Amino acid sequence: MGLGVLTSGGDAPGMNAAIRAVVKTANYNNIEVVGIRRGYQGLMDGDIQRLTSLDVENISGRGGTILKTARCLQFMEEEGREKALEILKKFDINALVVIGGEGSFKGADKLHKLGVKVVGIPGTIDNDLTYTDYSIGFDTTLNTVLDCIAKIKDTDFSHDKTTIVEVMGRYCGDLALYSALAGGGDIISIPEKRLDFDTICSKLKLRMSAEKNDNIVIITERMYDLQELKKYIEGKLGVDVRTTVLGFIQRGGNPSAFDRVLASKMGVAAVNLLINDYSGRAVGIKKNEMIDTEFKNVNTKINNKKDDHNILNMLIY
Ligand code: F6P
Repeated sequence: MGLGVLTSGGDAPGMNAAIRAVVKTANYNNIEVVGIRRGYQGLMDGDIQRLTSLDVENISGRGGTILKTARCLQFMEEEGREKALEILKKFDINALVVIGGEGSFKGADKLHKLGVKVVGIPGTIDNDLTYTDYSIGFDTTLNTVLDCIAKIKDTDFSHDKTTIVEVMGRYCGDLALYSALAGGGDIISIPEKRLDFDTICSKLKLRMSAEKNDNIVIITERMYDLQELKKYIEGKLGVDVRTTVLGFIQRGGNPSAFDRVLASKMGVAAVNLLINDYSGRAVGIKKNEMIDTEFKNVNTKINNKKDDHNILNMLIY
């Protein structure tokens, strides 16, 4: 078996630890590995290099992905996939590990249906894949968000300021939810539990009436026009409101120990599935146990983590 590994979609801290685990587990089983650069784009272009266990030493602590990554629309077209099949044949690659999010798994499923053996590893800071409790990168990003919010809190306290902090997550509120659970925010609005402008104002008003004038409002990206929300609160409450979009700082940085361990376990599990002739499946973790499921069960439908919402209700009101 010749094994290929690629990272696809937005990068996530911990992807390198997954690459390392894939290469080392394969080599341990006498399987040669090639790294495919820039995701599906590199697969179509034949941007491929041999990867040995020595090549992946000292990468598990590095952020980003040594293989680089891309969002590749061309691969969603039949023509793009035909090109990919030719390259797989040319390089004698008959099995593939795809590290990425939902979009990347869609591509992987298409390859699986064309007869290529493929297994997916969830790598996305958004934690928006419902079949797994955690995806690689989420924990590191959560820690980055908390670190940033702590810094904003210091200056908010000194100046009695209110700041709206916008975090990533695409359409999933997990980064905001867990930041609030960990004590990072005073008011939180997420796609799964959206607050309208007036509710945000009345919650702020309540806090201000108790002389809590430094306030952090955490919101998930893509929900509001930030400037519109800021102006609305300022108009209603007569206070100065600041906004901070954390942006791409959330995608970088050295992966946390949790992400490195998770990525390592998932890398080993992915290669073991392929060795045992499984294909068309994504590995994950549920209730602390490694699991795997067919790609068709992977989705990002709103993930109502009811227990976590209930806990939050008792901490933030
Ligand atoms: O999926 C990861 C993510 O960082 C999202 O949180 C964000 O909405 C999106 O990618 C940004 O995408 P891009 O890197 O293409 O701008």
